[in-house]
Amino acid sequence: MENSQMTYHEQIVPYSREKLVEKLKAALTDSRFQHVLRVEQTAIKLAEKNQVDPERASIAGLVHDYAKQRPDQDFISAINHYQLPPILLNYGNAIWHGMVGWLFVKNELQINDIEVLNAVKYHTVGHQYMTPLEQIVYMADYIEPGRDFSGVDEARKITFDNLQEGVAYQTKQTLSYLIAHNKPVFPQTINTYNSWVPKFDLN
Ligand SMILES: [Fe+2]
Ligand SMILES: [Fe+2]
Repeated sequence: MENSQMTYHEQIVPYSREKLVEKLKAALTDSRFQHVLRVEQTAIKLAEKNQVDPERASIAGLVHDYAKQRPDQDFISAINHYQLPPILLNYGNAIWHGMVGWLFVKNELQINDIEVLNAVKYHTVGHQYMTPLEQIVYMADYIEPGRDFSGVDEARKITFDNLQEGVAYQTKQTLSYLIAHNKPVFPQTINTYNSWVPKFDLN
């Protein structure tokens, strides 16, 4: 599975890919570590197809779930310390590991690249104007080869044909799922829906 062992040249991380992979292995359970490796590979493929820097795609794919296993208290402390929007306190890890977790990536992995950090920040909720790299991480997380849900093959096909339509597809599916299960919807997810879904002719 782990086929593209890229060598980093751009100083986006101040150490090697190998070292970054080691840090992720230490921060994550094995199954989540395997997931981030698959997201990395999928992100690189989508980057090559969409004229996006594959090194950034590799890094963003690897670090997108860096904070996923942190205790709630770490996020609550960061929300208070950095005076992030208090509405975040009404949600949990699913929202926090992106919307707050990017700060841990910045502070602990010494990654200051705003494009990578925003790709981490928005990988679960998206936002109105997602850059191609943000779209790639959002989609790679959804369609990586380990994913198995009804509609995933269609999601893969749409995404490799048209990255933006993939974003619309996932956004629609996610919002439908949350509503069908009476789950709370983070307000920004609605903004993502409004700016992405109506402009595509999805089924
Ligand atoms: Fe995630
Ligand atoms: Fe993920």
